[in-house]
Amino acid sequence: MKTVNVSICTGTTCYLMGGAHLLTFDEMLDPCTADHVSICGSHCLGLCNDESNGKPPFVKVNDQVISDATLNKVLDKVREEIEEDAHVS
Ligand code: FES
Repeated sequence: MKTVNVSICTGTTCYLMGGAHLLTFDEMLDPCTADHVSICGSHCLGLCNDESNGKPPFVKVNDQVISDATLNKVLDKVREEIEEDAHVS
């Protein structure tokens, strides 16, 4: 199974709009899931400058952007990616 990459934007806008809270995401993962997830903080992803991208905070799960990100939204997306991968392989 491949790794799911999670980039949490820690740029000022995202950080102030709830991104700080998202940095606890790793605590939500059970050990088995955590083995397949790579989490990193990222400087401004460049998405906050354009309203068409949605509202901050932004998180990228693999190459997919989550706007107005919450811990549960990110967790759902990560689970979706892991399940998709399990179906393919
Ligand atoms: S501060 Fe997060 S996309 Fe710019």
